[in-house]
Amino acid sequence: MDWCRAVVLSTVFSMSWSAEDLTFPPGFMFGAATAAYQVEGAWNVSDKGESAWDRYTHEHPEKIKDYSNGDVACDSYHLWKRDIEMAVELGLKFYRFSISWPRLLPSGYPNHISEDGKNYYNNLIDGLLEKGIEPFVTLYHWDLPMSLTDLDWFSDYARVVFSIYGDRVKWWITINEPLIICDVVFDTGFMAPPIVSPELGAYLCSKNVLMAHAKAWRLYDEEFRPKFHGKVSLANHHIWFDPLTPADAELAELAREDCVGKYTHPIFSSTGGWPPSLEKVLEDVSIKRGYKKSSLPAFTPEEIALVRGTYDFYAMNHYTSRLIRKAREGEALTTWPLGDSPDLGGVVQRREDWPVTTSFWFYVYPEGIRRQLVWLRQKYGNLEFVITENGLSTYAGLDDQDRINYYKDYLRQILLAIKEDGVNVTGYTAWTLMDNFEWMDGYTTKIGLYEVDFSHPQRMRTPRASARFYADLIKKHALDPITVLPLNDTVS
Ligand code: BGC
Repeated sequence: MDWCRAVVLSTVFSMSWSAEDLTFPPGFMFGAATAAYQVEGAWNVSDKGESAWDRYTHEHPEKIKDYSNGDVACDSYHLWKRDIEMAVELGLKFYRFSISWPRLLPSGYPNHISEDGKNYYNNLIDGLLEKGIEPFVTLYHWDLPMSLTDLDWFSDYARVVFSIYGDRVKWWITINEPLIICDVVFDTGFMAPPIVSPELGAYLCSKNVLMAHAKAWRLYDEEFRPKFHGKVSLANHHIWFDPLTPADAELAELAREDCVGKYTHPIFSSTGGWPPSLEKVLEDVSIKRGYKKSSLPAFTPEEIALVRGTYDFYAMNHYTSRLIRKAREGEALTTWPLGDSPDLGGVVQRREDWPVTTSFWFYVYPEGIRRQLVWLRQKYGNLEFVITENGLSTYAGLDDQDRINYYKDYLRQILLAIKEDGVNVTGYTAWTLMDNFEWMDGYTTKIGLYEVDFSHPQRMRTPRASARFYADLIKKHALDPITVLPLNDTVS
């Protein structure tokens, strides 16, 4: 860019930005996140058990774009001190990470707690606290112990984690993204475990996951909250849906209920249970397919009461949006929720002006995050909302202006939601602290504030321009033109 264009652009930029109040409310928290399987590596050190993702990537390397796996990943199991250093460099208020269930409970069951696993998370938690950074912990980010793939042992695992770490961890996520572990897994077979069962398995899973979350929340509420006073929720993945034409408005609303409402109505609504409109449509579809009853399993009144109200805040992961339109008679459909929705009879597409990214499922539409927040507030009231994941996948490179623009644009929409729409958003989490094992994309797509050199034995971490942007934003507590802060470029 020549200097003249740069001056014009920066003048326009500072004019349009200074017209708005771009400061975040006092007390608004900024953090960054990772997940155990995506960064820890050390898949078989000490007595760690095998997870569904260990098995899946070892037995089906062809399912991962670059035939890679999380065996070493960022080696955070050994390099956790450097991870804390990066959190300090960024000035994070909290660091969201997940505990690997099979690392802490090698058999999956609470009969044996791994000393090494326990110490690893103790060190990480204590190291963060020493630096004044709050640990924000997810119990389950998809690495299910292989021994448990058919059983419901989640609340026993939760009890172990709450009793070991609950004195110091005040923010908990029970389960990360039911939409991915149920709908994506069972509809597509793209992820572990590779079982395809879109008509039955996906919906059974939806109910089981909600019940598992509710039991863990109630366990915390009864046994741990009185002494530890923490907050517990589950984190949903939100894809915002707009109708392609006005005639598709009802369908878009159904798609929102299928994608988000299915996992929020049972917990956050005053009535509990499935969203009524979705329940009706899925029952009709099931009967048409020859089933005797809906493949969305009914909740009993006791189950409705068990699940309803099991939250202390709302945890929102958001990346992308979609358009939806009614399918034409006989039109071939792909699979939900990354593609079309055969159950709703909807064809899903990108709006032409939404930029694509290096992840096939991911288009950029900043307004989507604001509209999603407003939708949730309208449905469930003004809860405390924490954005628990948001970030951009790109190609490699340290000068990631596109990621900076993504953060700016999405954060600006969050500020509008707070200031114009009165949504009570109290925190924001950048996904992700560092490049990681990006599930079916392996290491081919980059999403970190820090670049990780996966060919380096020490998995060298280097801050990108976006890390400097984020540190500056946190320091100023406001969106502003960028000042480059000195971050540690060389330490691995
Ligand atoms: C998941 C992360 C993942 C991110 C980007 C989220 O849905 O929680 O584990 O890395 O998407 O693909």
